[in-house]
Amino acid sequence: MALPFFRITGGNRLRGNVRVSGSKNASLPIMAAAILCDGEVLLHDVPNIADIRSLAELLIKLGVDVERRSDGAIRLLVRDEMNVRAEYDFVRKMRASICVLGPLLAKRHTAQISMPGGCAIGDRPVDIHLRAMRKLGAEIDLVNGDIVARAKRMRGCEMFLGGPFGSSVLGTANAMCAAVLAEGLTVIEMAACEPEVVDLANFLNQCGASINGQGTPRVVIEGVKQLNGCEWRVIPDRIEAGTLMVAAAITNGEMRLENCRLDHLMAFVDRLAAVGVEVERKDNVVIVSSARRLEPVEVVTQPFPGMPTDLQAQLMTLLCLADGNSIITEKIFPDRFMHVPELSRMGAHLHKEGPTVIVQGVKRLSGAPVMASDLRASAALVLAGLAARGETRVNRIYHLERGYEKLDDKLRGVGADIERCEIDAPDDE
Ligand code: EPU
Repeated sequence: MALPFFRITGGNRLRGNVRVSGSKNASLPIMAAAILCDGEVLLHDVPNIADIRSLAELLIKLGVDVERRSDGAIRLLVRDEMNVRAEYDFVRKMRASICVLGPLLAKRHTAQISMPGGCAIGDRPVDIHLRAMRKLGAEIDLVNGDIVARAKRMRGCEMFLGGPFGSSVLGTANAMCAAVLAEGLTVIEMAACEPEVVDLANFLNQCGASINGQGTPRVVIEGVKQLNGCEWRVIPDRIEAGTLMVAAAITNGEMRLENCRLDHLMAFVDRLAAVGVEVERKDNVVIVSSARRLEPVEVVTQPFPGMPTDLQAQLMTLLCLADGNSIITEKIFPDRFMHVPELSRMGAHLHKEGPTVIVQGVKRLSGAPVMASDLRASAALVLAGLAARGETRVNRIYHLERGYEKLDDKLRGVGADIERCEIDAPDDE
């Protein structure tokens, strides 16, 4: 089996225009929601990445025709409603497969989904998802590692969806999808406010649902009898945009981002400003440039509109080169620090204490062979490689390719020295 890796020679200043792809985390639940629709769904700007291909495969198993058209749009149409099972192989490959739970239960009245385990970023329970389904009237059992959920009729209700780490993004997505066809009114308290949840709600409304309050912690859903399909453009990927912003900043470059929503990145841009990175919108592009001196800052990840956990690793890489000590606290996934030992191999000074990392700024990072562990940690290592002196080899980039569309091409397009290579017989696997 060929294993891809990146070879990066650091030091180039990145300059030029990049178009941000459509959002992975908005596309996944929207594609799953096509299960609810009686008509055709046509989605624009769905990124062509491994996670999307995995979900497409699962949806095909679930009787949905999924076709990537030559213009890049994805067309989905339910053909057969018999299968309601998401097997272990799918869920193991991609935890986000859980987002078919709400749509299956609402439309087909049964769902059998392999229980997701933990992953590289920590324990990832699904109790909030199950609580929402039960509240709407589902009976749920755990049978041989599968969640088996049944509901003859879903009934509107009031539910509280907070957990120990705040709201749940996919939990809210599942609750909304399950409630759109339920009888009567559903009120979700402590709903996730992330832009991806808002995009899903707006998509469902375009298909004929009646959802109000999306983007606030109180979402109100009036059940309808049926949903049609619709044509929809997915929002830009705010995490890819943030990653590219760090790429510009860490190389003292100047990047112009097209298809970038700054209103989805307020907390992150606030932290960048405190570091000394300038981010401004001019007409249709967002221009990112950085002063030579990077100031240390404090960072706490939080649910939206707070600083996203999905940009914590990338911001840490930037802070490795700040002039002083920064403090990063992870409040969503307290164990999401797999990048710490790898960044240390490149010369970063990092001290982890529970969910907090103290980042002691150093003058420079030095290239090294490193190992990607999960999607965002991989991105952090690529960023470190762009700034480091000498050559960095980022292994196991299949993690990165799950969620970033052609990141190497995009970076090369603005001047990075990055090459995608493959080996047959890895010495490290
Ligand atoms: N949680 C529970 N119980 C649940 C669900 C979640 O306690 O039933 C906890 C989680 O363990 C975590 C917190 O609640 O501590 C928030 O998790 P959430 O449910 O919001 O995460 P998710 O919906 O599974 C999505 C993104 C993640 C992103 C998180 C947080 C998708 C496909 N995934 O996951 O994205 O980190 O929200 O914003 O939308 C990524 O793209 O790299 C990624 C991991």
